Amino acid sequence: MRVAAFTGTDGPDDVAVQEQPDPTPAAGEAVIEVAACSINHHDLWILEGDSGMVGTDELPFVSGLDVAGEVAATGPDVDSVASGDRVLLCPNETCGTCRYCREGPENRCEQYSLYHGGLAEQALVDADRLVALPESVDFTDAAALPTAYMTAYHMLRRTDVGANDLVFIPGATGGVGVAGVQLVDALGARSIGTTTSATKADRLADIGADHVVESGAIDEIRAAVDEIGEPDAVLNHLGGDYTQLGLALLRQGGRMAICGRTAGDRSTIEIPQLYLGHNQLIGSTMGTQPDLETLVDLTAAGAIDPVVNDEYALDETGQAFADMQRRDAFGKLVVQP
Ligand SMILES: NC(=O)c1ccc[n+]([C@@H]2O[C@H](COP(=O)([O-])OP(=O)(O)OC[C@H]3O[C@@H](n4cnc5c(N)ncnc54)[C@H](OP(=O)(O)O)[C@@H]3O)[C@@H](O)[C@H]2O)c1
Ligand SMILES: [Zn+2]
Repeated sequence: MRVAAFTGTDGPDDVAVQEQPDPTPAAGEAVIEVAACSINHHDLWILEGDSGMVGTDELPFVSGLDVAGEVAATGPDVDSVASGDRVLLCPNETCGTCRYCREGPENRCEQYSLYHGGLAEQALVDADRLVALPESVDFTDAAALPTAYMTAYHMLRRTDVGANDLVFIPGATGGVGVAGVQLVDALGARSIGTTTSATKADRLADIGADHVVESGAIDEIRAAVDEIGEPDAVLNHLGGDYTQLGLALLRQGGRMAICGRTAGDRSTIEIPQLYLGHNQLIGSTMGTQPDLETLVDLTAAGAIDPVVNDEYALDETGQAFADMQRRDAFGKLVVQP
């Protein structure tokens, strides 16, 4: 089979299509004929040699978490899926025995890791991690859901966002950002999204952002949000200075979930603002398989319509990463092997 492999860690030029042996499923496993695999900033961190989660000692490395397609073969003892089934992979990998695997939520597993290998014609996966896809959800839309939408949805759950709440989403135009805006809308809450691009600002309004702030300057964003109102919650995937900004903006008792660090690993926070404001800072990573099942149901019901910026053939995978790196995209980028 053909795979799009990372052959180095100098960025998008280090993606090459290579031949690898077709996988054979062992007990509990299934092989998926990959119809679509979306890419995430997580893959780009690996390709840039800057992932906090995945080392690249062993190159070539085949990344790609968000796999949708048809089951091509199953190993012994697999009866949850059969050849020909339409499925979406939940990329969580968990130990199954720690207290969080037993009590939940599973994404806090003490051995938590992620599936990689979807940027290929076939993917060898754990059959228990496959979610059934109804005919009404196409593979490309489905592949947008796992990492970006599942993470945003889990952050909204952890920050207790309810109807009419005001949610601040800095950097609202990428995978997690667009998912956040759409899910906030679906919950009957209101969003404030930011972007540095005029073109992307227009698209944010089109997908249901209630307020759009076109700026990358912390002081300017702070002044603009002050005019709109005090957020009940912040979805922060940028980290860096956006962390203190989010804390400064939150209402008394407001909550900020943090899942990323695109704008920097560190932030200096005003500690009195945290305790006098009775605020919560919540670290959050990915979500649970039931979260993903909910998102498939919401998509099938038309409550959310995943935003796919562009589709790429397997040999255009490097181009997809270059587009992400240049901040050209709005929403998700999907490779169709
Ligand atoms: N912990 C987890 O489970 C988890 C899950 C998913 C994602 N993440 C993390 O969350 C982040 C977002 O992931 P993603 O896949 O959604 O990425 P993405 O699609 O590349 O995100 C693009 C968004 O980030 C903004 N942005 C990019 N660089 C920026 C910078 N230097 N300063 C300010 N804004 C910047 C862009 O703003 P413009 O519109 O201005 O271009 C755009 O809105 C990544 O750090 C990723 O690793 C973590
Ligand atoms: Zn575990």
